[in-house]
Amino acid sequence: MSQLKLSTEAWSNQSMFILAAVGSAVGLGNIWKFPYITGENGGGAFVLVYLACVLLIGIPVLLSEIALGRAGKANPVQAMANLSREHSASSLWFLLGLNGVLAGALILSFYTVIAGWGVSYFFESMKGAFINIDSDGASQHFNALVSSPYELLFWHSVVSLFTVVVVAKGVKSGIERAISYMMPGLLLILLILLGYATTTGAFGQSFSFLFSPNFSKLSWEAVLIAMGHAFFTLSIGLGTMMVYGSYLSQKYSIVKASLWIAGADTLIALLAGLVIFSVVFANGLEPGAGPGLLFQTLPIAFGQMSGGWFFGTLFFALVVMAALSSTISLIEPAVSWFDQNWGIKRLHAAWILGALIWLIGIGTVLSFNAWSDVHFLGERTFFDSVDFITANIMLPLGGLLMSMFVAWVMTKEQRQQEIELDSRWMKWYLLDLKWFAPVAILIVFATNLVEADSVWMMVAVALIAYAVYVINAVRNGRSL
Ligand code: PHE
Repeated sequence: MSQLKLSTEAWSNQSMFILAAVGSAVGLGNIWKFPYITGENGGGAFVLVYLACVLLIGIPVLLSEIALGRAGKANPVQAMANLSREHSASSLWFLLGLNGVLAGALILSFYTVIAGWGVSYFFESMKGAFINIDSDGASQHFNALVSSPYELLFWHSVVSLFTVVVVAKGVKSGIERAISYMMPGLLLILLILLGYATTTGAFGQSFSFLFSPNFSKLSWEAVLIAMGHAFFTLSIGLGTMMVYGSYLSQKYSIVKASLWIAGADTLIALLAGLVIFSVVFANGLEPGAGPGLLFQTLPIAFGQMSGGWFFGTLFFALVVMAALSSTISLIEPAVSWFDQNWGIKRLHAAWILGALIWLIGIGTVLSFNAWSDVHFLGERTFFDSVDFITANIMLPLGGLLMSMFVAWVMTKEQRQQEIELDSRWMKWYLLDLKWFAPVAILIVFATNLVEADSVWMMVAVALIAYAVYVINAVRNGRSL
């Protein structure tokens, strides 16, 4: 960690950075998770809370994370090492980067499995497997897929392989190339599906489900879910945006880019929601089906509708493209860390990490069948445990510490150089970053911990103690 290692890769231009970052942000979180958690939590009021979370916590943390990456000019671990040195802060800040690299790898290990369901559904839909399917048929189809470890393993491997091949080629010829095919395709498909949604006869109902808030349906838990989701969907808190930011030239605006990223991510989630609920309502199905909404409810709906074969297949193509542009970004922090800090060439780093992550993913594959009764964290399966630790502990902790670094440790000059807000907006941004965002994140964090069982409570308490230690180190170093 001693040398100041800097990134040598760079985006071709600002649009490529924005496109890749939007590709990272838009994923299963938008098309699978957002619709089902909105469905489960009653619609409009939940959407409103989610939008507030994106605005008040998501965008400020996103700005901070990209700024840290660009100012640190390296992978998350090295970027934090560089920055802490530059600001004479505790050298332990590198752990924040490490938390991100690990969280990215862990998320990817299950993300490829779920993305694999999408790929399998795309081919099944194309083969006509969902034509006229009823609700029993759809459940059977889904259960047949998840109860077969070999089938899951196969699709998990396909997605992992794609990710490794793209990332191994580097930022320009790998990531940029893949993204520049996938993102326009994704937008086109979404627009076609939106047009289709307006013909289903339930577009109005879908619209009012998403946009007319009924606060009586909103629970405290829903607020916490919305906040956690804001992190996941914007890909913040783990270093993806940091590593993408490290390839961004100084001449581009982080503020503009962040607004684009958050705006596009939110818009795409809302449009996907509109499409999905139009199809669901048009067939008199339930919006609150939970995680099965995409894989069990939607096939029934498409199966009953005219043109359903075509639009259903397009829909799963959308899921696949959204997911693949995110998997690339989940492995990139670790790949660049191997490359820059350990001298392992990108090509080799991508394959080694891909293999490791693939192995961990087998735990998730088995969670749905052979290990469905094996519990790791409390009552959780392997998959639920990894999801819980990353989404509820590592991401918020990462986001919290990133905000703190930018708000308390970074010098005013560097902050202004990276984040070109005028003084009025800067004041609000800092106020938010110093007080509102951390308190909100801590509340989510603490509530999530109470839910966990005792051993993990202890791990979590240790993590908090560590955070306090870092804060203290910072305070001593910087006499706040
Ligand atoms: N934002 C992605 C989604 O919504 C998931 C993701 C999280 C990707 C963190 C990268 C980093 O699906």
